[in-house]
Amino acid sequence: MSDFTHDAWGIYVAVITLVSIVACLVLLFGFSSQRVPVNDVGTTGHVWDENLEERNNPLPRWWMWLFVITVIFGFIYLALYPGLGAFAGKYGWTSAGAYKSEQAEAAATYGPLVDKFLKQDVKVLAGNAEARQMGQRLFLTYCAQCHGSDAGGSRGFPSLKDNDWLHGGDPQAIRLSIVQGREGMMPPMGAALGGDEDVRDVMHYVFRLGGRTFDGIRATRGKAKFDAMCAVCHKPDGKGNMAIGAPNLADDIWLHGATDAAIMESISKGRKGSMPSHEGFLDEGKVHLLTAYVYGLSR
Ligand code: HEC
Ligand code: HEC
Repeated sequence: MSDFTHDAWGIYVAVITLVSIVACLVLLFGFSSQRVPVNDVGTTGHVWDENLEERNNPLPRWWMWLFVITVIFGFIYLALYPGLGAFAGKYGWTSAGAYKSEQAEAAATYGPLVDKFLKQDVKVLAGNAEARQMGQRLFLTYCAQCHGSDAGGSRGFPSLKDNDWLHGGDPQAIRLSIVQGREGMMPPMGAALGGDEDVRDVMHYVFRLGGRTFDGIRATRGKAKFDAMCAVCHKPDGKGNMAIGAPNLADDIWLHGATDAAIMESISKGRKGSMPSHEGFLDEGKVHLLTAYVYGLSR
């Protein structure tokens, strides 16, 4: 198989490759048989940096033979593997073919095991050491860059092992998170609330809901605003709504930072979280193992 748009290109590349290799040989032997005239002390007469003189000794034999061997190796390689334009080489090797055979090998090794796991319930699988190990390897490959290698998350990327869920922690919800992806959208509320002082009032009311130290006067002032503007999504008790990914604000777990400044910013400027969909990218077996792994993390 070749990507050349016209056969002539393949020939062109092949000819250039062969001519260059042969030219290397010609150059090597041509120059080693020709001697530059030298004077009686054996130097060519070229002098640099006051006293650096050029001698003219033949190339060491071992070096020349090494060079010849590499050329022979090159010819053998080009006969067996692709490298000469459109010529596929005797073995017909392609990177796509190598990838496919690796995949087939993996499927033959793990296929029966994955099929067995696919028939098992996620909750059961979460307790299976072998399945968890496979799940962990998949997690490290596909998920760790965002959720951390220990699944502990970081700012903006939720921890998956604290049993605090934005979208739900039952097997079905975890599976959906992985397959469909998730979007979390907290609208900027600063302007609607009236300004920084009002944002701070609402924040203190949120602290009151969650049992964190709060300013009583501010919290009382903030309550009405919270009920009017935040409760639709975060619920009147602040415990959140998994249907729209609105987090629990009363559990003192903060996705976007726990300091007063970070929480103020969450409220006034809004926040956005995006979990990419893995549909079509991960097959059913991998999704099943990942779901079981994530499910098991917090239990
Ligand atoms: C339209 C629904 C909606 C409304 C209205 C809304 N929020 Fe949110 N809020 C969300 C969502 C969804 C998130 C999570 C964003 C994400 O996934 O990153 C969020 C996140 C937050 C966070 C960050 C939580 C964390 O763990 O870091 C705070 C704080 C917050 N909201 C407070 C408020 C307050 C106070 C109000 C009212 C002034 C409010 N929200 C109004 C949906 C809403
Ligand atoms: C590009 C970054 C990224 C990658 C890669 C990623 N995630 Fe996520 N994931 C997120 C973000 C951000 C959220 C939170 C979305 C929100 O704010 O609502 C999330 C949410 C989730 C949730 C829902 C958590 C909850 O509290 O309900 C699960 C489960 C999850 N991810 C699992 C995975 C798994 C398993 C993988 C690997 C297959 C993965 N994620 C890969 C960024 C990522």
